[in-house]
Amino acid sequence: MAETLHFSVPIENRKERYRELFTQWKALIAGERDEIACFANTAAALAEALGFFWVGFYRVIEEELVLGPFQGPIACTRIRKGRGVCGASWLRNETILVSNVDEFPGHIACSSASKSEIVIPIRDKQGHILAILDIDSDKLDDFNIEDQEQLEQLCVELQNHLYD
Ligand code: SME
Repeated sequence: MAETLHFSVPIENRKERYRELFTQWKALIAGERDEIACFANTAAALAEALGFFWVGFYRVIEEELVLGPFQGPIACTRIRKGRGVCGASWLRNETILVSNVDEFPGHIACSSASKSEIVIPIRDKQGHILAILDIDSDKLDDFNIEDQEQLEQLCVELQNHLYD
């Protein structure tokens, strides 16, 4: 396993950063099947590669999303189905991209610095949501369809790796 991540392009070149991240991230999680360990390094790698304000996982435990490994400021620990962007993604069973969190009804503001957000479900082989990946940016409108495609791909690879 590499001790540090290496990037050859500036952080603004997000497309290339994703490409460089994915190669290293696959090596990082290879051989480790523990969910918490993989979530923890995935959150750290995404935060380092792309500089997001908050990157983390919430796991479905009984009828709530419970805070898992993350990078960034402290966050709310439990989210009910349908609540906030995370709970809405779980309920609707789809990725949610929010360009301005102030315009999302029911958004849960863990930090006033958070301006835009993307939430992606992570499913088992049967399609049940087991966790969600939540990424917040301190910039408005910081996520586009390219981010969505890249991050959904990462989540599919993560679920194939963890829940085979
Ligand atoms: N904003 C999220 C809550 C989690 S924090 O951003 C880390 C939401 O509305 O679900």
